[in-house]
Parts: sequence; structure tokens; C-alpha cells
Amino acid sequence: MTADVFVTRDIPEAGLDIIREHYSTDVWEDEGPPSQETIMERAERCIGLVTLLSDRITAPVMDALPRLRAIAQYAVGYDNIDIEAATRRGIIVTNTPGVLTETTADLTWALLMATARRVVEADRYVRTGQWKVAWGPKMLLGVDVHGATLGIIGMGRIGAAVARRATGFGMKVIYTSRHETKTTRQVEAETGAERRELPELLSEADFVSIHVPLTEETRGMIGADEIRRMKAGAVLVNTSRGAVVDERALVEALKTGHLRAAGLDVFESEPLGQDSPLLSLPNVVLTPHVGSASVATRTKMATLCAENLIAALSGRVPPNIVNPEAMDIHRKVSDSGQ
Ligand code: GLV
Ligand code: GLV
Repeated sequence: MTADVFVTRDIPEAGLDIIREHYSTDVWEDEGPPSQETIMERAERCIGLVTLLSDRITAPVMDALPRLRAIAQYAVGYDNIDIEAATRRGIIVTNTPGVLTETTADLTWALLMATARRVVEADRYVRTGQWKVAWGPKMLLGVDVHGATLGIIGMGRIGAAVARRATGFGMKVIYTSRHETKTTRQVEAETGAERRELPELLSEADFVSIHVPLTEETRGMIGADEIRRMKAGAVLVNTSRGAVVDERALVEALKTGHLRAAGLDVFESEPLGQDSPLLSLPNVVLTPHVGSASVATRTKMATLCAENLIAALSGRVPPNIVNPEAMDIHRKVSDSGQ
């Protein structure tokens, strides 16, 4: 197969149509990811790659693809790609920010509400025939969302969208952010959110929701010490990246009851193993990394991803370039006709 572009999964047709208009396109046919070896073989002659989070695009993979000029990631996060290695080779990397912000904030709220009010546990209660008394004064008691304090770790686009929703519930919003930004100023003005250092946020919040990308700095950021700092009976929600949280420490805190509950869409290892201790905890709501999974958003992500790819391959600066430093090298390599 000598296509120009290799797409590592069957993304929505809207995106594939755009790519096919410009380039011969080879789409990986399985639901699971192709191995690194498969990518190296199938994309050997390709100038463009469309990748997902589960494709590890390392320097050796790039070296096996000598004609590669652009990697268009179908996600906002791109911790699966060695960005520095791509930049050195003049390979443009793009992502799909913005379009999935509100959809991911919606799921964050679904997990927050579900854990606070024990929605999944209650559903199981009904289905498994445990509902024998019509109305119980102490049946399935949860905690209030309204009026509680929401701690948002990482005030980027998604963190901000989560904060805005909190105003409808009359919550107090506190957040951490490395820097003051246009977003943090806007959110403060709109929601009255207040910035905190991480330790303070952890000890003040009733609900803690994580919205940082996975980097060397954020890996394991919420470990045993941080969890200990959280209020007794607090709830943790994570729709960012699993590896930001020490999962073992989290399981411990959920078992002892220090944490009331957790709502998790992301895990240290995905898919979550059937031997994970999380599966046996009743106070955890688990979803399979579906933060951006609405029909409309996945379609927009596909279109944006395709537009980024086409722009990069035709020498324009793509709307969502992750490594603008690569542009100069990219142009030189392209001009030399390699
Ligand atoms: C999903 O996790 C994404 O980064 O888009
Ligand atoms: C990315 O960090 C986002 O919040 O969209």
C-alpha cells in the first residue's frame, strides 16, 4: 500500500472525506490500535499520519517513516507523541482543542452528579431487586452538589467550562493554575472563582476535578499526600489523564472512606484491567475515556483534524499546531523535496 496518509482508526467520515479529497488515504481497519511495528510498515511511504491517544509515536517510529511531514492527532491531549523528536525532524504536530471543551465539561458534571447522588449505585439497587421498601428515610443518602465548594485543578478551557456550569448550582469555585491567564481572569469575573495553591485547594474543596494535561510535571501530581490533604468525605473526579493520579493511593482512600467517592473517565492504564481494584468499589463511577464522545463533537474533531493535516501538508501553518518551532525546519525539508 502506498497511500499518502495513514489514519490509525476509523474516524468519523466527515474527516476522512476531507483528507481523501486531497490525498490517497489508508485507514486502519480494526477497532484496536495498530502496533508500532504495523504503523512503521503501513505508513512507511506516508507524508501524513492521523493518530489517536493509544498510538505511541516515538522517535524510532518517526525514523521508520522518512517521508513523514505531519501528524494530526485526533484528540486535544498529545502525550502519546514525542513532540521534541517531531520538532527536530520538522514534523508538524496538530491537535483538536476547543471543539471538545464543552462536551468534556458535560461528562465531568455527569460524573460529579453521579458520584454525589450515587446514581449508578441506585440504578443497581433497583435492577438487582434490593428496592423492597417504597421510601426509606436513610436510603442511598448522598451529598449536596448545590452550595458545595468545587476545586478545579488546571484552569484551561475545559476547567473554565466546568467552572461556568458550577454557577448554576450556586457552588463556590476555587482553582489552581500555574499562571494568571486570559482564561483565569475571565473565569474569575464570570464565576467569582478564586485561585489557590494546590494544598489549600485540596483541603477546602468538597469536590475536586482535574483538568491538567499529562506532562512530566503533572504525572503523579495527586499522590497519597495530596489525597490525605483532601477533606474527609470529599469526591474526586478525573476526566483528564489517569496518570495524573496515583491510582493505588486513590483506591486506598476510597476503601478507608477518607474519600466518599470518585468519578473516573481516565486511568493509569487503558483499557482498565479486569483485575483493577476499582471494579470492586461501590463508591466509584467508571466510564471508558468518553469525555469527548458526543456525535457532534467527534464529527467536529474529525473535521478539524483533517483541516490541520491538509494545512500542514500544503505548507500553511495549521490552525492547531502544537509545535510551531517545527515550521521552519518543516519548510526547509519540504523545499528540498525530501
Ligand atoms: C481525550 O482524552 C483527548 O485528549 O482529546
Ligand atoms: C485543553 O487543555 C483544553 O482545555 O481544551
